[in-house]
Amino acid sequence: LPSSLNRQFRLRARPSGRIKPSDFQLVETPVPEPAAGEALVRTLYLSLDPTNRIWMSDVEQYMPPVALGEVMRGGGLGEVVASRNPAYEVGDLVTGLVGWQDFLLTDGSGMGALTKLPKGLPIALPSLLGGVGITGITAYFGLLEIGRPEPGETVVVSAAAGATGSVAGQIAKIRGCRVVGIAGGRSKCDWLTQELGFDAAVDYKAPGWQQALAAACPSGVDVDFENVGGEIMDEVLARMNLNGRVALCGMISGYNADEPMRGRFDAILMKRLTVRGFIVIDFAPRFTEAALQLAQWTLEGKLKHRETIVDGLENAPTAINRLFDGDNVGKLLVKVAEPSAR
Ligand SMILES: NC(=O)c1ccc[n+]([C@@H]2O[C@H](COP(=O)([O-])OP(=O)(O)OC[C@H]3O[C@@H](n4cnc5c(N)ncnc54)[C@H](OP(=O)(O)O)[C@@H]3O)[C@@H](O)[C@H]2O)c1
Repeated sequence: LPSSLNRQFRLRARPSGRIKPSDFQLVETPVPEPAAGEALVRTLYLSLDPTNRIWMSDVEQYMPPVALGEVMRGGGLGEVVASRNPAYEVGDLVTGLVGWQDFLLTDGSGMGALTKLPKGLPIALPSLLGGVGITGITAYFGLLEIGRPEPGETVVVSAAAGATGSVAGQIAKIRGCRVVGIAGGRSKCDWLTQELGFDAAVDYKAPGWQQALAAACPSGVDVDFENVGGEIMDEVLARMNLNGRVALCGMISGYNADEPMRGRFDAILMKRLTVRGFIVIDFAPRFTEAALQLAQWTLEGKLKHRETIVDGLENAPTAINRLFDGDNVGKLLVKVAEPSAR
C-alpha cells in the first residue's frame, strides 16, 4: 500500500457558529486490512458540502447527525486498493460516503454502500463529484422536477456560481428560460454571464443589488432555485409572479446560525407560490438518468463546470469554511491522493 497510516478526522465538538479546526480530532491509525466480505478504499477526492455543517449539529435533519468521536461524514470518490468482497475489484473507482479519512473499510451496505463508476469514463474525476455528480444531480432534479420551468419563464438562482447553482442555471438555459444568477462579487458574476450564458447576474455584495435584481427580472420571477435563504430569498420572493415555484434546495446563509430562519410567508400567500423543499436522495432511484444526461450535456459543451480543488486531507477542516466565505467557484473538493488506476 502507498501509505501505512490512515488519517481520520473525528468529530470532537459540535460547532457553535463557524466550523473550527478544533471541532475535529486528527487520529492516525494503521491502514486496516479487509476482513472477509470487505473492501479497502483509498480516498482520492473528498467533497466539501454545506450540508457537512448540518451533519455536525444535533438539529433536525434528514440523516442522523455525526456522533461525537465518529469519523466526520463526507462524500467523495475513492479507489478500491484491496478487496475480499466480490462486488469490488482492486482498481474500481467508487463514490459515496468515504468520510474524512485516507482509507475506508466497507462491506458495501448501509452508509458504506459505494457506487462503482463505469470504467473509462471520458469525464475528469473531479467533475464526477460536481457537475456530473451529486451537486449536478441536485440541480437537475430540483430545477426540472420541482421548479418545472417553461421556456421563456424567468428563473432566478442564488449561490449561482457555486456547484449546484451553476448547473441549475445552465439547465434552465438549456430549457429556454431567462436565467438570472445571484452571486458574491464581480468576477463570479462575469463568469455566469460571459462563460455560462446566464442572461444576467446580480452581485449581492454590491450596493443597490436589490434594484439590480428587479432590473434583471423585468417580467418578474417564475422559478426561484433557492440555495441561500434569508435576505436574498426574501428579495426574490418579493418579485415572484402569481403561481411561481420555489425549489428550496438549501439555505446556506443560516447554517452557521443558532436560530431558525424566518421568511416572507406573505409573498407565498399573496402570489399563491408553491414552495417545496427537497433532498437529492429523494431521487436516488433516478440518479443514473440524471448523471447520463449531465454527462451528455457536458460532452456536448452545453454544460460547463468548474472545481475549486484544495490539496491535502489535512486542509479539510479549514477549507470547509470556504463555502461559507464564498471562497469557491463551482464544486469545492479536497484532493487526497492520486489515482493509481486509469
Ligand atoms: N437539497 C439537497 O439535496 C442539496 C444538495 C446539495 C446542496 N444543497 C444546498 O445547495 C446550496 C449550495 O450548495 P453547494 O454544495 O452547491 O455549495 P456552493 O454553492 O458551491 O458553495 C456555497 C456558496 O454559497 C454562497 N454563500 C455562502 N454563504 C452565503 C451567504 N451568507 N449569503 C449568500 N451566499 C452565500 C457562496 O457564494 P457567494 O460567493 O456567491 O456568496 C458559496 O460559494 C446549499 O444551500 C446546500 O445546502 C442542497
